[in-house]
Amino acid sequence: MALSPLRLALLIAGLSGSAVQAQMTPEQMQLLSHNCLQCHAVAHTGAPLLGDTQAWQARMQKGREQILLNSIEGVGGMPPMGYCSACTEEDMQTLIDFMLGDAKEVGHDK
Ligand code: HEC
Repeated sequence: MALSPLRLALLIAGLSGSAVQAQMTPEQMQLLSHNCLQCHAVAHTGAPLLGDTQAWQARMQKGREQILLNSIEGVGGMPPMGYCSACTEEDMQTLIDFMLGDAKEVGHDK
């Protein structure tokens, strides 16, 4: 199932309006929508969904560094670099911070 551009725009606008601090460039926004959202915005792919704070909070237990490493090297159904051959590690960091959204704050309390 493809995500309609309108739904995608609404999704991203909704998230950016919240406590998301990650500064994404328009290029990174493209990378995200072309490479990550086919799984991370689609139910039943096994991927934690964009905006699903609870799912991301659970993942934050292992720490941001580990999450980043897993995303670069691949973990379970997550392909190395999320199939994003155009992404640099820096892009990955920014995209992941964006996906973590509000959940990012949680890890620090533990
Ligand atoms: C082919 C589908 C697919 C694509 C494309 C994909 N992901 Fe994932 N991703 C997954 C799945 C499935 C998981 C859950 C893996 C697990 O824990 O078993 C995951 C997990 C993750 C995690 C959590 C890793 C952890 O350690 O818990 C992050 C962060 C992530 N993806 C980021 C990205 C980013 C950024 C992109 C785009 C560059 C991307 N993903 C593209 C399927 C995908």
